[in-house]
Amino acid sequence: MKFPLKIYDNYSLVQKNTLGLPSIARYYAEVNSVAELQTALVFARERQLPVIPLGGGSNVVLGDFLDALVVHVNLKGRTVLSRDPDCVRVRAEAGENWHEFVLWSLDNQACGLENLSLIPGNVGAAPIQNIGAYGVELTDYFLSLEAINLETGLVEDFDRQRCGFGYRDSVFKREKRDQYIIVSVTLDLDVTLKPNLGYGQLGDLLARRLGNKSPSAIDISQAVCDIRREKLPDPSEVGNAGSFFKNPEVSQSEMDRLKQAYPDIVAYPLGQNWKLAAGWLIDQAGLKGVREGCVGTYQKQALVLVNHGGATGRDVLSFSRQVQQRVNDKFGVQLEREPRLYMEDVDKIIR
Ligand code: FAD
Ligand code: EPU
Repeated sequence: MKFPLKIYDNYSLVQKNTLGLPSIARYYAEVNSVAELQTALVFARERQLPVIPLGGGSNVVLGDFLDALVVHVNLKGRTVLSRDPDCVRVRAEAGENWHEFVLWSLDNQACGLENLSLIPGNVGAAPIQNIGAYGVELTDYFLSLEAINLETGLVEDFDRQRCGFGYRDSVFKREKRDQYIIVSVTLDLDVTLKPNLGYGQLGDLLARRLGNKSPSAIDISQAVCDIRREKLPDPSEVGNAGSFFKNPEVSQSEMDRLKQAYPDIVAYPLGQNWKLAAGWLIDQAGLKGVREGCVGTYQKQALVLVNHGGATGRDVLSFSRQVQQRVNDKFGVQLEREPRLYMEDVDKIIR
């Protein structure tokens, strides 16, 4: 028997975002199928309301009231589509938890996602910012995704080129922003493990644990989880959205200027340019572990802003602007926010 889609009004999202910010959605629905999603879109269109898709809420900063239909994308399912000597093709629906999907892929002898273990959130949001960690990005294993076009209500396919992935970036954050809801993602994973241990801390930890023995994908996944648990706050204990800013990219000449003034600056080559460690910049600006009211920077990782309890979206935004100002004053470098802001008068929600 089919039940009609339940749409709630004035629904609290405080439990639905990892920063733990109080926020009321004018309307809220949890969709478990493409058909339910299409029903929700008709509801929003009839009321001329914007639609905000929400997964695990681990990369959003929410305002007090969202005059929108918030759709929790909860489609479930994971499938091995094919297996050949080199490649295991897998597909996951958007509502699958990312980390559980990674563990499932490893259980199915499919390698590649081990470095992306323990990233919070759901599969459907992973392409939005092309999630990355420990030298691997989603794009490295991405084949395609299916997304519903909010205008037409129809499902469209996106291959890697159409997604326009970059560092913490995709078309879904730029020219196709607010136009699609992702419903599934398909990846081509490796049969044979190709360990990616270039991120110093990871290689060092595995060498300490295993000596000369080659690590398995499970060893790598566990090491990544351990490093992350040591360094990053657990959202179930302290509200946060992971890195609050992207690591900024600067030109060679800019890098030369910074290196002369700050010989210890932490930076990584990126083609012709350099990527600076934003955590180092914030730390060196004297802002590691500081607190103003309910908001602060995490004491072990200055790039992570935390809600000590009772903060609103506006408090977080205002604190983040002070961090940007201080870093700019000291280094002349502008930090760009990583999480998406949904706050009506600051960043108009547009479809
Ligand atoms: P949400 O926060 O629910 O949504 C994020 C954005 O995507 C919103 O704009 C939302 O509207 C949109 N969206 C969500 N689902 C869909 C969908 N189905 N279709 C279309 N749009 C959608 N990120 C990294 O890249 N690397 C890390 O190492 C990392 N570490 C983190 C550590 C911590 C402790 C935390 C809290 C966050 C971290 N993040 C990291 C950020 C976050 O986990 C990722 O961005 C993740 O992909 C967000 O998933 P989500 O389901 O929670 O998305
Ligand atoms: N650093 C400091 N002080 C700090 C924090 C960092 O000096 O307070 C220095 C560290 O010593 C290190 C460098 O900055 O030399 C980089 O730090 P870290 O290894 O913690 O990584 P990050 O650049 O801060 C990025 C991602 C993370 C991802 C890790 C691992 C961004 C914006 N962040 O952090 O992603 O998990 O690398 O790959 O690219 C996220 O996007 O939410 C996220 C957590």
